[in-house]
Amino acid sequence: MAVIHLNAAVRKSRISKNIYGHFSEHLGRCIYNGLYVGEDSPIPNVSGMRTDLVEALKRIRVPVLRWPGGCFADEYHWLDGVGPKESRKKMINTHWGGVVEDNSFGTHEFLEFCRQVGCEPYINGNVGSGTVREMSEWMEYMTFDGVSPMAELRAQNGHPAPWKVKYFGVGNENWGCGGNMRPEFYADQYRRYQTYVRNYGDNKVFRIACGPNADDYEWMDTVMKLAGPYMDGISLHYYTVPGPDWQHKTSATCFDREIYYRTLFRAARMEELVTRHSEIMDRYDPQKRVALVVDEWGTWYDVEPGTNPGFLYQQNTMRDAMVAALTLNILNEHSSRVRMANIAQMVNVLQAVILTEGERMLLTPTYHIFDLYQHHQDADLIDCHIDCGQAGVLDGERVAELSASASVDADGLLHLTAANLSADGSCPVAVNLAGFAAKTVSARILAGEIGAHNTFEQPEAVKIAPFDGVSLEGGQVTFTLPPCSAAEITLAE
Ligand code: AHR
Repeated sequence: MAVIHLNAAVRKSRISKNIYGHFSEHLGRCIYNGLYVGEDSPIPNVSGMRTDLVEALKRIRVPVLRWPGGCFADEYHWLDGVGPKESRKKMINTHWGGVVEDNSFGTHEFLEFCRQVGCEPYINGNVGSGTVREMSEWMEYMTFDGVSPMAELRAQNGHPAPWKVKYFGVGNENWGCGGNMRPEFYADQYRRYQTYVRNYGDNKVFRIACGPNADDYEWMDTVMKLAGPYMDGISLHYYTVPGPDWQHKTSATCFDREIYYRTLFRAARMEELVTRHSEIMDRYDPQKRVALVVDEWGTWYDVEPGTNPGFLYQQNTMRDAMVAALTLNILNEHSSRVRMANIAQMVNVLQAVILTEGERMLLTPTYHIFDLYQHHQDADLIDCHIDCGQAGVLDGERVAELSASASVDADGLLHLTAANLSADGSCPVAVNLAGFAAKTVSARILAGEIGAHNTFEQPEAVKIAPFDGVSLEGGQVTFTLPPCSAAEITLAE
């Protein structure tokens, strides 16, 4: 039996709701034929944003959305995406499939999408191929309240009132697709560009520097050392790729138990990455003023057969749900430093929460994990220790069978999220509860065999169900998680 020791009297940190953030890029069918179908589409929409999708995202309370990239961000020139649509400049999306980008989804459309979903925008600026002036004027265009050239242009383009834009990224992956820079050079570029990303009126910008890829600790060290005082956050990107290399990433749906466990083993590396990057940040910022922003994470497999390799369209199974459950528990546990994360990507790309095909739409198993975990948003993380065994088939690639985290929300409810990562056996769990006199319990569960997934023919093959098997006796909670499952247990005093 696995044991979870919880102490609600020990409040460790606030879990920022932004850990449950998302990422959307001009890539494949994320924007076009994804969240945006255009005003003239027969698919029900409001100002071109598909209604069923907006409603689904509202149900999981998406807090923040990053846009327009990704690698696309450092090729994007925002002025090409405002003004009358028929005269917007076209470009080739060189990173992603070489398709024509007609710029019909630009700043106004993105901010309208965020308004409909009810989330904060996180805009990523262009350092790689853009100018300081361009970045500066973008912020002026969006947020200046008064008479200025950019505020007038915004009004001419149909939006006299300024928007609020808090989160702004200064470049993306500038160690790679964003300009192949060395950390010293980027740190200086960051200091320069961010100077002109101004606060206008009461719009206070939260500036996010480009951080490292995975375990590039030198990048983190150098950028924190040279530019730390000029930033509010620094990013980290980490993808879970189960294949032997980037040319052979393996299938999203056809995999065996060995690859299943390898995927989880690699996803679990997030713990080590966040710990070690946080240690470096602690050296330069012991007060934890600067947030670690994991603004790209998720699984990356071979594209679905017959689809454009540049579109990164992949299916999503219970394996992905377990990756999301594990990752979000890890990020919760590190919420004193990790204050935003953005799964890649929201729709039709990589570990998407939603897939679309024409007028049809489905919610993936990963969506359901965001649903199960949503009560952690802005709740207090409580002390949580787990005693459990390991699961796996190969030595060196085993994972702890049980992953969990717990919080107490503003209404005083305790939410425990627990996942049985084992594909091979049920996991009986006992929860020792201190500092909380639980009187009632309710629970929901997502379970399925490792390859189970939703299709457009069977969109509800995998879905959340009530979890009746939880007992609360004498202050002790016990339950048994089936193989490959995640549950939310809610306790009230
Ligand atoms: O999410 C897909 C790509 O992965 C992004 O454009 C880039 O930032 C990363 O390498």
